[in-house]
Amino acid sequence: MWGSGKLNKRTILPSETATLTPSSAPSPGPAPDGLPALIAARTADVGRNREKQRRRRLRAMAWLLGVPAAFLWFRLAVGDPFNVFSFPDFDPLVVMPLLFFALLAVVLLAGTVGAGRSPHVMYRPEQIKTRLDDVIGIDPVKEDVVRSLNLFLAHKQFADEMGGTPRRGLLFEGAPGTGKTHLAKAMAAEAGVPFLFVSATSFQSMYYGATARKIRSYFKKLRKVARQEGGAIGFIEEIDAIAMARGGLSATVAPDSVSAVAHGCGSLHALPTSFALSHTAGATVINQNITSEGVGGVVNELLVQMQSFDEPTGTQKIQTWVIDKVNLVLADDRQLPRPIPPRTNILLIAATNRADNLDPALLRPGRFDRRLTFELPAKVGRRQLIDHFLKTKAHSPELDDDVMRDQVASATSGYTPVMIEHLFDEALVNAVRRGQREMSMGDVERARMVEEVGLGQPVAYTDHERKLISTHEAGHAVAA
Ligand SMILES: Nc1ncnc2c1ncn2[C@@H]1O[C@H](COP(=O)(O)OP(=O)(O)OP(=O)(O)O)[C@@H](O)[C@H]1O
Ligand SMILES: [Mg+2]
Repeated sequence: MWGSGKLNKRTILPSETATLTPSSAPSPGPAPDGLPALIAARTADVGRNREKQRRRRLRAMAWLLGVPAAFLWFRLAVGDPFNVFSFPDFDPLVVMPLLFFALLAVVLLAGTVGAGRSPHVMYRPEQIKTRLDDVIGIDPVKEDVVRSLNLFLAHKQFADEMGGTPRRGLLFEGAPGTGKTHLAKAMAAEAGVPFLFVSATSFQSMYYGATARKIRSYFKKLRKVARQEGGAIGFIEEIDAIAMARGGLSATVAPDSVSAVAHGCGSLHALPTSFALSHTAGATVINQNITSEGVGGVVNELLVQMQSFDEPTGTQKIQTWVIDKVNLVLADDRQLPRPIPPRTNILLIAATNRADNLDPALLRPGRFDRRLTFELPAKVGRRQLIDHFLKTKAHSPELDDDVMRDQVASATSGYTPVMIEHLFDEALVNAVRRGQREMSMGDVERARMVEEVGLGQPVAYTDHERKLISTHEAGHAVAA
């Protein structure tokens, strides 16, 4: 049932109940945090696809095991049982050289094949601890992300019944430590599908062409996992490492449709300053860098792969090949139908601190359709983050006081979420130095001074220097 399950704890907004849930879905009450609810993956298109694949695998296994089993039963029935453990006799003089050459081929090929392997790490939802409720202070971004996830989970309904094209690419941009990776992990955990994490730098290779091969392998794996599991989320960290604007192209990423959908925290339509300025001023920054053929090739590969999600599978390619051969001898009205490539349910997220430098072709709708800006948290957001972090960090009762927490929120203007978290960690270190097991407001204040000013450097002055400095300072005092 759509309303059941751990994920479906928020309210489905009326607009979404109308489109992405069956008419029998219960109508829940108002949302406590104003965010739309996530559809439970188990019952959405993703879950149904996974179940279909599981049954198909079981049928294939039944065939694979059934045919040899039937053979064995037949031999048993005719009174000539087949001993599966009896190996035929091989001449060691033939076997040993064959084994040697096979081993040599494996060793020689291993390096080449290994150089083009996808460098991703795959996480299953149960391996990720971060949930959407752990992402604090960026509600407008979270809301958009939940809507994208719902489209992802109910992709078939959206495409087949409503004729829409599901979003397949989200670009997270923002300063370091604003929560881009954190939110992507939470999305994968909540969506209940595998999460293929890759850092863009790990695509790079010293072998010419190997970077493009690794990118191809990554997307191939993404498609394979998505087909097997009903859907998959890919995440490319610091995509600017492989997707900088190619030589001679504008790096300001300015298709109007992109600017129209760019969102910022605090529900402002905010673009990175440089983009906004250059856009309004009508200026474009042409990337005059001489990019090597290799760099251009990598970006081109990425552009091609981002549109390859609906490629036919290996089996379908073989089927098509066979059907094509057969169709050559069949009359026009008897031609066999070719298999239609399945629509693969993939959501690709990329994160960057430098969206302005990305190749504009990547940011057109159909590739990264949605561009979400992670801003520094405002005071309300910082206060929520402080409450969130202090839930798990030992602190004295004075830090439970609303006034104290508001003071910390005011004093941390310009801090990113990770800086606020680090501030409390430093405060805990200060507490340990004092021999205490919980931080006090003084520890937080000291940690803030170190964070902002740095560690004090003890300086020893000679008598003469002391005299000079005191005369200098006395001059200030007199003038004041
Ligand atoms: N909105 C948030 N709510 C709660 N914790 C957060 C939030 N944003 C960041 N954090 C904390 O900060 C840590 C670092 O954040 P994260 O790795 O997502 O930053 P990032 O934006 O990906 O940075 P970078 O651009 O350097 O990769 C997270 O592990 C998390 O503990
Ligand atoms: Mg990150």
